[in-house]
Amino acid sequence: MKATNDQDDTESIRVRTAIEPAPSLPVCTEIERRAIAWISPYNQALHLERARDWLAYLDPDAPLEARLAVVTHDIERMFPNGPQLDKATGRFDDPHYLYAHAARSAEVVGFWLHAQADVPEELSLSEVQRLITLHEFGGVGGADLVQAADSLSFLETLQDVVRKWVTHGECDAEQARAKHRYMADRIRIPAAQQVAGPLLEQALASLDDL
Ligand SMILES: [Fe+2]
Repeated sequence: MKATNDQDDTESIRVRTAIEPAPSLPVCTEIERRAIAWISPYNQALHLERARDWLAYLDPDAPLEARLAVVTHDIERMFPNGPQLDKATGRFDDPHYLYAHAARSAEVVGFWLHAQADVPEELSLSEVQRLITLHEFGGVGGADLVQAADSLSFLETLQDVVRKWVTHGECDAEQARAKHRYMADRIRIPAAQQVAGPLLEQALASLDDL
């Protein structure tokens, strides 16, 4: 029996060390530099920046619109009076909440981008907004990649936030585990699914003592 446990432990360590975190993507455009500065006061800014890194990991040729979309996709939560999901009783795929959240982010980013001077002429604001609005659902034209980048960054960077949902009484540990599983299960990009496995294992392990 002990030999089996040792084998399980070894396998677990092997899987965990198989994760190669996305390298940090240098900021090469002025509009991205401004966007990163704009989102920096948001308490989950790291999640947005890592989503940009994971997008480039999955697609090194991801266009500027997609990079801007991932680095701003949740930013409506930086502003008060946004939509809320009851984490204790709601579904994490609740389309009413998810659409309201994603559409509000697209609207906020639209206002911000519209107010920027010297935006590259070729940048399509409507494409940035399309990808933000689809970030929870995925879809064609790069939306699956944006969704996958969000999921991988979520599993990587928001483990402590999800723990606090439980320790602060917003939901129980089983609901917290369900959120992590949902973020992994919704991914459609095969290369992202491979990375999501070990990240999900880590995220679930972070709730083991709760
Ligand atoms: Fe996100």
